[in-house]
Amino acid sequence: MRGMDLSEVAARLRAARHVACLTGAGVSAESGIPTFRDPQTGLWARFDPQALATPQAFAAEPAWVWGWYEWRRSLVARAAPNPAHRALALLEARVPRFTLITQNVDDLHERAGSRRVLHLHGRLAESHCEQCARRLEPGTPATLPEGGAPLEPPRCPGCGGRYRPGVVWFGEALPQAEWQAAADAAGACDLFLCIGTSSLVQPAASLSEVASRAGALTVQVNPASTGLDARMSAVLRGPAGQILPQLLAAAWP
Ligand code: OAD
Repeated sequence: MRGMDLSEVAARLRAARHVACLTGAGVSAESGIPTFRDPQTGLWARFDPQALATPQAFAAEPAWVWGWYEWRRSLVARAAPNPAHRALALLEARVPRFTLITQNVDDLHERAGSRRVLHLHGRLAESHCEQCARRLEPGTPATLPEGGAPLEPPRCPGCGGRYRPGVVWFGEALPQAEWQAAADAAGACDLFLCIGTSSLVQPAASLSEVASRAGALTVQVNPASTGLDARMSAVLRGPAGQILPQLLAAAWP
């Protein structure tokens, strides 16, 4: 632990008027969803992001990209929220104002009971036509082997365009309304939690800095160190599924 310890953070949490929280892949790790950058198990340690998570990759190999996202959708469909997701849903009910910002494309926050979630990087469940933006109703994902397999994306019944996964790819802009709401919350909160993210991907990673400059207490929850450690008011070291329930129990005994 760096700076304040868990009980001091808990006291500040209980007194906070507006808590903003940024989550990353580490929050879903204990649900069995792989992170991106953990050595060995992370998706980007096993798959090439340039070949799967760029508009160019989808233009060149739509079936490979669609099949890989269908595989990820099936992992999420089989997973369940963990104690970290549940603690954040509870926190929303405890503090006067709460803004949950996630980089995750799964729906585990919602399935744990969080009511309002700002998805900065889109959602796996929301495919849309790449030409006319018509939404595809999410069906049951195909059963595919580990890592996926080529699978032609469905075609839009309206214009014949290809459906694409509703996620933000490298080189694409974040959804404007979500980003604006996230930046506003970071600048207005009195306590900012940064949980389970390597804080390597911009602009999401800049939100802690926005909060810090605006005078918020900044708290990181992560079992590993990140480049943000030295700039946080407190670093709580450990898995989110353990630390967050402990923090809530200490704040509201
Ligand atoms: P990363 O894979 O970069 O980082 C995951 C973080 O979670 C690491 O710092 C781990 O130490 C931490 N972690 C692992 N297990 C944990 C646990 N049980 N509890 C808490 N933390 C844990 O994932 P993100 O930071 O989310 O972009 O990655 C950011 C973006 O990069 C993603 O949204 C994705 C990716 O490319 C898009 O999909 C657009």
